[in-house]
Amino acid sequence: MTDAPLAALSARLPKLRLLTDAADLEHYGRDWTRRWTPAPLAIALPAEVEEVQAIVRWANEHGVAVVPSGGRTGLSGGAVAANGELVLSLERMNRVLAFDGVDRTLAVQAGMTLHAVHEVAKEHGLIYPVDFAARGSCSIGGNIATNAGGIRVIRYGNTREWIAGLTVVAGNGELLQLNRGLIKNSSGYDLRQLMIGSEGTLGIVVEATLRLTDAPPPSQVMLLALPNMDALMEVFSLFRARLSLQAFEFFTDVALRYVLAHGAQRAIEGDHPFYVVTEFDADERSQDAALAAFEMGMDRGWISDGVIAQSEAQAAALWRLREGITESLAPHKPYKNDISLRISALPVFLHEIQALLASEYPHFDVVWFGHIGDGNLHINVLRPDDLSDDDFISQCEHVTKLLAGTLQRHGGSISAEHGIGLVKRAYLGSTRSAAEIALMRGVKQVFDPNGLLNPGKLFV
Ligand code: FAD
Ligand code: MLT
Ligand code: ZN
Repeated sequence: MTDAPLAALSARLPKLRLLTDAADLEHYGRDWTRRWTPAPLAIALPAEVEEVQAIVRWANEHGVAVVPSGGRTGLSGGAVAANGELVLSLERMNRVLAFDGVDRTLAVQAGMTLHAVHEVAKEHGLIYPVDFAARGSCSIGGNIATNAGGIRVIRYGNTREWIAGLTVVAGNGELLQLNRGLIKNSSGYDLRQLMIGSEGTLGIVVEATLRLTDAPPPSQVMLLALPNMDALMEVFSLFRARLSLQAFEFFTDVALRYVLAHGAQRAIEGDHPFYVVTEFDADERSQDAALAAFEMGMDRGWISDGVIAQSEAQAAALWRLREGITESLAPHKPYKNDISLRISALPVFLHEIQALLASEYPHFDVVWFGHIGDGNLHINVLRPDDLSDDDFISQCEHVTKLLAGTLQRHGGSISAEHGIGLVKRAYLGSTRSAAEIALMRGVKQVFDPNGLLNPGKLFV
């Protein structure tokens, strides 16, 4: 260990696992964005809260920036370390700490994967309802830091709703116990909620107390083919009024093309521009209601075709058409927009944005999908083979500026669920006012006086 600060860290924490091999620096220095060249100083893999505190104190003494790191499935560059930072990976801190059946809470270390949390909740006859395709790799700490959303938000809300308490190491190394599992707590500012969605810029989440709930009733999964974009919101209103929805997601024919090429099975024949995957509570009454809604949608010309899953395997196959999209696009290095609007603003906005994208990206494949039932659209632009990464990104940045302007006029957000990270920091001002951003910077200064926690993320 030649680097003096690293040698001091090793001397202070002789048991700390530190990695400096080139392959490790590359592996831990990037996330799913793949846009920046990883260049961290080293990777620290603490096993205990006290080690995390000592690392943060060491970082302050030596002026070393720290990038908190979970599963690195992030899509905004939040966990990227490209400037000599120390990556602080929580991956070894992945244990269950306590289950409480009376409080219906599960306390875990922050490095546990979302999937592992689901499994433990299931063993106790309950569920942790936040869910999305990265479940096998993403960590609870990362979910909290991004306030992750996913495919069940329409029923259960975002990660924010499910955090009963947090243990956090602040920017000066101090340990904070926030909210301690209470349901009611009107004793001043809720610092737990401030941490949620702070993208590793205010503190390092080391432990979380998660709320669990009852499993939903048995459900049915339906795939619908729609003839045009206006039908999307009509079908949403139709189904939401008649069924108890657990999910309402959409994708386009372009998305379908990529996911089929990636191994998913076609479930509806023919060419249709839009598709919906919806899941709803399935009792006898809702079976009839679903059929009635489907027939009404067909009569009104909003639905062209549909299929209802007859088995768990079929339900999984329908979900794969939606959940497999991200992986199927990854080889094409997509430029990702993750935007949200009030549902009432969507019909007008969708037309404006469709016209904008058609005129600005006439020759690119633009893939739309997402959580339309939450007002959240994922717009992915795919890089043509003959364009360099730099030229492609600069063209996309130009369009994102226009998109941000349109969003601002409609009162939307430039990031619905992936966070700002590095990717969207230039556009924060389209969603937050100058006064809000100044307050956010002030909060950062209080929690992290030396600016060492994930610098350069969230703010330009
Ligand atoms: P990382 O990528 O490791 O980090 C994300 C941010 O959190 C970074 O800023 C990092 O510094 C910070 N961070 C990580 N751990 C901590 C910690 N312990 N304390 C403080 N800060 C920390 N997101 C959704 O919201 N909805 C989806 O439907 C969805 N689907 C996805 C599907 C796929 C296939 C993929 C690849 C990603 C998807 N994502 C989705 C994005 C991503 O999975 C989420 O943002 C997830 O919450 C990131 O968790 P992570 O552990 O991988 O975090
Ligand atoms: C999704 O909804 O599938 C995710 O947010 C991932 C993505 O946007 O690619
Ligand atoms: Zn999403």
